[in-house]
Amino acid sequence: MGEENKMRKIIGDFDMKLAEIYADLIDECVSGAVNLRQKFNGEHVVLFPGIHVVKHPHPGDREQFPARLNGLVREFEIGRGLDNIGLNVPRMHLVGVNDSEIPFLIMDRLNLTNLWDLNSQQRKEAQKQYFEQIDLAKNEGYFPGDVGDAADPYNCGFDVNKKKLFFYDFTDWRMN
Ligand SMILES: Nc1ncnc2c1ncn2[C@@H]1O[C@H](COP(=O)(O)OP(=O)(O)O)[C@@H](O)[C@H]1O
Ligand SMILES: [Mg+2]
Repeated sequence: MGEENKMRKIIGDFDMKLAEIYADLIDECVSGAVNLRQKFNGEHVVLFPGIHVVKHPHPGDREQFPARLNGLVREFEIGRGLDNIGLNVPRMHLVGVNDSEIPFLIMDRLNLTNLWDLNSQQRKEAQKQYFEQIDLAKNEGYFPGDVGDAADPYNCGFDVNKKKLFFYDFTDWRMN
């Protein structure tokens, strides 16, 4: 006993019961026992259990896990920092390592539309906010990562209900 769940918390504060459920869910999705809606076109797999997002490296990239763990911790810290200066970003909850040694990040789930799927009025608003948010981040000492440009924005999306542009994916952002 006590050995049952070997999930390790690296940083953050979150309901640990739920964190353990998500840690196990990663393995269940990897094995195919559970088929959850997920995205995996980039460097990470992103799972959508309810109101949260669980982001982890591709399970085959074992040799990359230490670097990916660092990246997720950076994403957590940058995300919290951006949140504190008033940028629209998902709330960061926890970085952990599950019992298969897979690092993962738990954050809030956003409800976003790609900028090219918006109507022209919404897209105009989104592009305006894109510049405002990038300026704000730079003025506060952040170096945005892979955000594309206003013509082809990357790692951001527009919440049409809140009428707000949100950024995500901070693994390659830097801070002064
Ligand atoms: N907090 C979130 N809420 C909703 N969708 C998200 C969230 N984070 C990521 N996603 C979705 O998952 C995709 C991949 O996530 P991302 O953080 O960009 O990982 P990668 O490192 O693979 O690019 C995003 O393009 C987005 O569609
Ligand atoms: Mg991305």
